[in-house]
Amino acid sequence: MGHYNIHFSPTGGTKKVADIICSALDGEFNEIDLCSNIEQTSFSQDDICLVSVPSYGGRVPGAAIRMLKNITGNGAKAVLNCVYGNRAWEDTLTELQDTLEELGFRCVAALATVAEHSIFRQFATGRPDEKDRAELIEMAGKIQVRLNGDFTGPLVLEGSHGTYKEFGGSPLKPFGNESCSGCGLCAKKCPVAAIDATNPKATDSEKCISCMRCISICPKGARGVDPALLAAISERISPHLGGRKDNHLFL
Ligand SMILES: Cc1cc2nc3c(=O)[nH]c(=O)nc-3n(C[C@H](O)[C@H](O)[C@H](O)COP(=O)(O)O)c2cc1C
Ligand code: SF4
Ligand code: SF4
Repeated sequence: MGHYNIHFSPTGGTKKVADIICSALDGEFNEIDLCSNIEQTSFSQDDICLVSVPSYGGRVPGAAIRMLKNITGNGAKAVLNCVYGNRAWEDTLTELQDTLEELGFRCVAALATVAEHSIFRQFATGRPDEKDRAELIEMAGKIQVRLNGDFTGPLVLEGSHGTYKEFGGSPLKPFGNESCSGCGLCAKKCPVAAIDATNPKATDSEKCISCMRCISICPKGARGVDPALLAAISERISPHLGGRKDNHLFL
């Protein structure tokens, strides 16, 4: 039996949540990073996979779905984890469930959990925090009971299956400034190859998914988005992101 921590986590918030959950489940978890190009991978029905994705516009990021399609479940058990930035996750979990079932996984449990918003850092700042950690560990205990039992499914999640809300992407596309040293790290780490290593100040805005990874990893702090556009969108959406949103477990 193998244990796998499969995640798409451009700025690390999704991975933080996933790591806490894995640390509280039985078994040693092997990591599979969907932000890198992964090989064709096949599981078996004895395997257990925690599959974690951020919510982008209430959907699973298309880049994560494309990577997941290199995986075959063959009846492996999947625990779904959608990480959202204090607004809402909407169709993210049902889309993840539909995708994983199509790939041959048995979905046995699902979570919607909170991490700092990767664009609007003033929301859910510092999360997952100690309160989240305690909640996630308690939820992992209940998931372990489900994994040890003889649950045959199906896992029933509220929300739409098959048709999902539209998400046309974010207009916020980062670019580099004069502090750029040309090290090429952002080009190497961009999950969709939207940065050309020979000209890393520029961004292919058609390819860019606004994941903000290049901003978060640049050692020179040389990449950023248009501050006026960021401020305008932030003001428009802030009524939906206030307060402390909860972590949820669905069994
Ligand atoms: C393009 C984009 C769209 C997002 N859309 C949502 C959303 O609809 N609802 C929400 O609560 N958070 C949203 N977020 C916030 C992320 O879901 C959240 O910050 C997540 O933790 C990011 O994962 P990461 O830190 O692993 O990159 C969005 C973030 C990005 C980059
Ligand atoms: S990571 Fe930063 S410094 Fe390095 S190439 Fe990219 S923008 Fe330039
Ligand atoms: S260029 Fe776009 S897709 Fe690539 S890391 Fe930066 S924000 Fe993400």
